[in-house]
This record gives sequence, C-alpha cells and structure tokens, in this order.
Amino acid sequence: MHLFNVLPLTAAVLHLLGRAQAKAVFAHYMVGSVNEAHVQQDIDNAIAIGLDGFALNIGDPTEPYVNTTLVSLFDYAWGKDFKLFVSMDLTASGAACTAGRSCCNGPSDYDSILSEFLGNGAYYLGPNGLPMISTFQSDGFTIDAWNASGWWSYWGNLVDGLFSWEAAWPVVGDSNSADCGSMSPDIPVINGALNHGKSYMIALSTLQYKDAYGTNLYRPGGLTLPIRMNNILGMASQLDFVEIITWNDGPESHYIGNVWPEASDSSVKYCSPQANFPHTAWQPLVTSFIAAYKTGNTMAPPTGATAIGAMWYKTLLQDATCSGATQPDGWSTGTDSLTWAVVLPAGSKGMQIRATSNGAVISTVAVNPGLNFGSPTGVQAGAQMLQLLNSAGAVVMTATGGACVASVCPAGMFNMNYQVVGLSAGGGNASCK
Ligand SMILES: *[C@@H]1O[C@H](CO)[C@@H](O)[C@H](O)[C@H]1NC(C)=O
Ligand SMILES: *[C@@H]1O[C@H](CO)[C@@H](O)[C@H](O)[C@H]1NC(C)=O
Ligand SMILES: *[C@@H]1O[C@H](CO)[C@@H](O)[C@H](O)[C@H]1NC(C)=O
Repeated sequence: MHLFNVLPLTAAVLHLLGRAQAKAVFAHYMVGSVNEAHVQQDIDNAIAIGLDGFALNIGDPTEPYVNTTLVSLFDYAWGKDFKLFVSMDLTASGAACTAGRSCCNGPSDYDSILSEFLGNGAYYLGPNGLPMISTFQSDGFTIDAWNASGWWSYWGNLVDGLFSWEAAWPVVGDSNSADCGSMSPDIPVINGALNHGKSYMIALSTLQYKDAYGTNLYRPGGLTLPIRMNNILGMASQLDFVEIITWNDGPESHYIGNVWPEASDSSVKYCSPQANFPHTAWQPLVTSFIAAYKTGNTMAPPTGATAIGAMWYKTLLQDATCSGATQPDGWSTGTDSLTWAVVLPAGSKGMQIRATSNGAVISTVAVNPGLNFGSPTGVQAGAQMLQLLNSAGAVVMTATGGACVASVCPAGMFNMNYQVVGLSAGGGNASCK
C-alpha cells in the first residue's frame, strides 16, 4: 500500500482555528497501512523529539486501512501529551474519485472519520476550543462544498488560519541561494492572516526530491532547513504554529521520522528500505529548534552536551551519468556540497567545523554558540566526514560512515535524496558504505 503523496500546485491550505495563544509544532504524517507497533513507535519518537502532534494526511478516507490506522493512532495518543488532527488531502481524494472509487464529494467524504474522531480526547483543539482541521488544497471544490462565502472575502469566514506548504522550498529550477529558506513567499500571507485576526502555520522542511508516481523533480535542499529555522525564530512571536514537512513521506524525501515498509511502495528505491536513507540525524536539530521557538531562547544542545548536529549530502555527483535515467526537473540546481548544521552551547569558544571529502579538507570554519551551518562545495567521490574541533584543535565529535559518493547512479536514477549523518562524540577516520 503506497502512501498518499501528491504534488500540490497551489499553496493555500486552511485550517479551522482561532488565534492561538500557545505555540505548537506538528509534523505532517502520511496515513498509510502502518502496523500498530509502528504507529506506537512513531508517537513515542515524536514525543521524544518534542513534537506536539501529527497532522494526519488522509487521501481517500474510504480506504479501510485509514480507519484502522486512525484507531491505532488515537488509541495510543489518548492520555498522552500528544495530539492529532486531520489534514484532508483533497487532491489525493480527487484522484481516488477519478480512479472510480467511492470518494468523490470533497470535504463531505471525510464526514464519517471526522464524526468518529473529532470528539476523541487525543484530537487537537485550538485555543477557541474547536478541533483543528487542515486541508491539502481545495482541489477545485467550490465555495458551496466549503460552506463559505468569498480569498479573504471568499475564504475569510471559513478559515481561522493559513498554512503554505509550497513555501517550504525554493521553486523548481530556482538556483538563487538567497531563496534558500527564505520567508519572502510567506510574508504577505502572514501579514494578511495577522490583519484578519487569523493564525499562521509555517512550513519547515529539508528538501523535496520525488521520482515516483509520474513526478520527477528536485527542490533544494542544502541549507533550506537551517536557514528557515533561523528565519522562523526571528519572527516566532507572529507564528502560532510550525508544521514540519514531513514525518514519513518517503517518496518526497523530506521525512525526518520512520518510513515503514508496510506503508511504503518498495518500487520507490531512494527511501526504501529506510535503513539505506535514514534521516533521523536531523531530529536533534528539530528538538533544539522547537525549544527555541517556544521559549524565545537561542538554539542550544541538551544540557551538558558538547554539541548536536549533522551533515547531509547526496550520493551522486552532478557529473554522474545514469544510462536510461531521466534527470529530475531542477537537477541543475543541485550542487556537490557537504551541508551541515551544528548547535553549540552558550559559552563555547574557539571551536571549529572541518569538512573533509575523500580525504581532502574542503572547509574549516569557526563556529559559535547557537545554530551554525555551512554547505561547502567540492565534494568528491568517496567518504565524507564532518569534525568538530575544540579550541586546541583536537577532534571532539565526528560524523562519517554514510553511503559513499560516486559518479554513478546506485539505484538507476538521479537520486537526490540525502544521506544524513549525525555527529557523535570522539574521533576516527572517514569511512563510507
Ligand atoms: C473504525 O474502526 C472502529 C474499530 O474497529 C469501528 O468501531 C468504527 O466503526 C470504524 N469506523 C469506520 C468509519 O469505519
Ligand atoms: C453553512 O451551512 C450552514 C448549514 O447549512 C448554513 O446555516 C450556513 O449559513 C452556511 N454558511 C455559509 C457561510 O454559507
Ligand atoms: C586512522 O587512520 C590512520 C592512518 O591510516 C591509522 O593509523 C589509525 O589507526 C586510524 N584510526 C582509527 C581510529 O581507525
């Protein structure tokens, strides 16, 4: 059973909620046929990271696995400090309609699951006490389907907040580094929301690479994640919610959590098996980000830790030739870079980050308390390594051991998905698999 997973053409996603007082950070969760033990592990992992809940992406709500997985999710979240809300994927449910299944009527297709779960104790309630619902596009369903009158005049009576999925990454083909992690697509919408007394949920993501289900594209990527973290923290007081895109969308490569085999399409080779492309090393950065977003403090590692951080890179070089494979749209905006983000505690002094590719040092830079990041180019085929050096120049933390970079296409495609490798204490030599 593959995950519902669609490429939206428009940015607007709406949710029914009043102005918020408390900040919350969610992750977008593709509802697939995940088994109960894995559902429980997803929730346990998400709580450990500091997430407040999952936005449950539901395509065709009439598929039997949807109810089964929802029951598992709500049962396990119940009584925990972790909430769930429905994100109606009207594009996927529209596709289900085209395929001749029973799901054709837009929002009303969700009535049975909404009536079953809206009153559940694990359902997320906004500060107005009402359950939150978000959508993934209106998919052309008109005003009558949405029960609203009139963009602000059209949607304003219906929505209590806005969320822009597409603003999470530069557009396809955009090679302007200034657009990486930029909030400029969000700002007019944030201002509109504030002017109308509505809340805003900002999207935070890593990259979008998808070669599946008739789509082959790449949207950076690179420093988008840490730059956007910084930008969000710079205006945290105006942002009620953050939604991390995503927890488990394997086919779009932007998962930070678990991509379970029973809910995955094994033909999507760049995320399955997950063991070859784990992204969990991004999680400590997310934890540090969530704390800073909620407290207004600078990002920091856990108390007592020297640092947290990770490096990420794609496994093939820009000059790779892959016979018979098609480059994704946006391929030319890829770079042979070793991207990293590292968070140091207050008081750290004289530390440096050194990036090494195939035995050659490609960058050495000073790093300071808080969030640091870089994306040196010059990656070569072979092993990659990131080292944190103390003020005496000794290696105190190292990230290495991900997949080797090569000039070939390991999975027979121009795979832009990242190897994400976390920093761990100690030294050691560069290695790769
Ligand atoms: C979902 O499953 C539960 C538990 O088996 C059942 O009680 C409920 O009726 C189902 N709901 C729908 C909409 O199928
Ligand atoms: C929404 O539907 C309800 C029930 O039919 C109706 O009373 C209400 O006027 C509608 N609201 C709008 C904005 O169309
Ligand atoms: C690292 O490589 C050097 C040179 O080959 C070797 O002497 C040393 O033992 C290696 N260290 C580790 C931890 O493997």
